[in-house]
Amino acid sequence: MKTLVWTLPTRIFHWLLALSFTTAYILGDFDDLKNYHFAFGAFVGVLIIFRILFGLIGPKYSNFRDFPIGLNHQKAFVKNYFSKDNYVGHNPAAALVMLSILLVGLFCGISGYLLTVDGNNAFNIIGNNEWLEEAHEVLANVFLGLVIMHLVGVFSDAVFHWKTGTLTSIFNGYKNVEAENAKLNIFQKAFSILWFIIPFIFLYLAFGLQENKSQENSKYKNERSRHDDDDDDD
Ligand code: HEM
Ligand code: HEM
Repeated sequence: MKTLVWTLPTRIFHWLLALSFTTAYILGDFDDLKNYHFAFGAFVGVLIIFRILFGLIGPKYSNFRDFPIGLNHQKAFVKNYFSKDNYVGHNPAAALVMLSILLVGLFCGISGYLLTVDGNNAFNIIGNNEWLEEAHEVLANVFLGLVIMHLVGVFSDAVFHWKTGTLTSIFNGYKNVEAENAKLNIFQKAFSILWFIIPFIFLYLAFGLQENKSQENSKYKNERSRHDDDDDDD
């Protein structure tokens, strides 16, 4: 018996997120490809906002209501990891990692966007851009850490619970379990169409963003103070 666990929007989201996160992360390190980084970063952020909304209005298993994140679920999961596999949607550890990916990804996108907002803008209430830059980098690396945890989880699950078919479920939607199929209503279908159009519009728009000037200045100041320190050493 097979059950449809991940409907098409969840799977499309997954692979778009995997591709765009990897691209944004790598591009973050290339100064001359900054605009491509902004574009893919914004794509990740907007894609995630839609996934969060889908978590509130989406079908069974993809809906946050079906994420077993409570402490008792976590304890039972650890205790029975090798003996049982009775989760249809995300298992408790996976559900925690998935939610963390969504939250960290959202804040990573927001902090990146704020780095492009002019220093005189109201957003500058956050203050020090060096702090923001640091936060953006930390969030990007925590995101990467969560992806690594996710992959360790997925592949260890494939070793210990191969029969459930979790690994292949993110490609074809189905797990080898007996449960209710996930099903999309008309509203969820309409929502999903917007979900996979709007992030591309933001990708295009974000390409034209520029790193904010006070950010450049703060970097310039850093460079200068480093030079001054070097001079002092001489
Ligand atoms: C940058 C890379 C990746 C990111 C950011 C990522 C993120 C995610 C997220 C957020 C979900 C939850 C889907 C949802 O509920 O909407 C998920 C599920 C899943 N991902 Fe990934 N993923 C990545 C790469 C991969 C790769 C390379 C594989 C395996 C080949 C994979 C296999 C899976 C599977 C099997 C699930 C479903 C897990 C379950 O049933 O609990 N992921 N991933
Ligand atoms: C969730 C998606 C994103 C990821 C994973 C990500 C990742 C990164 C990484 C790894 C760096 C390099 C950090 C360093 O080595 O200094 C970086 C820098 C940067 N990112 Fe993002 N980023 C994302 C979204 C965004 C967005 C949406 C924007 C703007 C629209 C943005 C703007 C910037 C800027 C301005 C820098 C340069 C900071 C510096 O001066 O080094 N990022 N990002």
